[in-house]
Amino acid sequence: MKRTAYLLLLLNLLPVSVLAQDDGENLVTSKMCYACHQLDAASLGPPWRAIAARHGERREVMVEVLAGKIIRGGGGNWGLVPMVPNQRVSEAEARTMAQWILDLAGNTGNSR
Ligand code: HEC
Repeated sequence: MKRTAYLLLLLNLLPVSVLAQDDGENLVTSKMCYACHQLDAASLGPPWRAIAARHGERREVMVEVLAGKIIRGGGGNWGLVPMVPNQRVSEAEARTMAQWILDLAGNTGNSR
């Protein structure tokens, strides 16, 4: 009985983490982040992979920091152009996108 419950829990957790990743990818598309960001190439804003490479090691802290910056905007980290505040992005959405970006550093065990 106990083992069954554990198994069910595992089966439940698995799709959730997969879903969270897809969500991040979908969100950066639907929230128009690609207007200024690309995966690998510099645009008006830095590429996702460069952000991941710079902040990936301090993932725990940076999820919150980047989520805040995604919502409120800000500058000074990458060049002269600041990021505008992104309206209509909730805290939860910003955090999901920040996690997706940071996971591109490839230090969480997934293949990306
Ligand atoms: C109008 C252009 C623009 C849009 C739209 C935009 N960004 Fe940015 N973003 C920038 C610029 C410019 C920077 C560099 C800011 C700096 O130098 O600190 C940046 C930086 C970032 C950073 C790194 C911040 C840091 O301190 O290292 C993240 C993460 C980020 N953007 C995520 C997003 C997400 C997610 C969206 C969509 C909701 C988005 N951006 C939409 C222009 C934009």
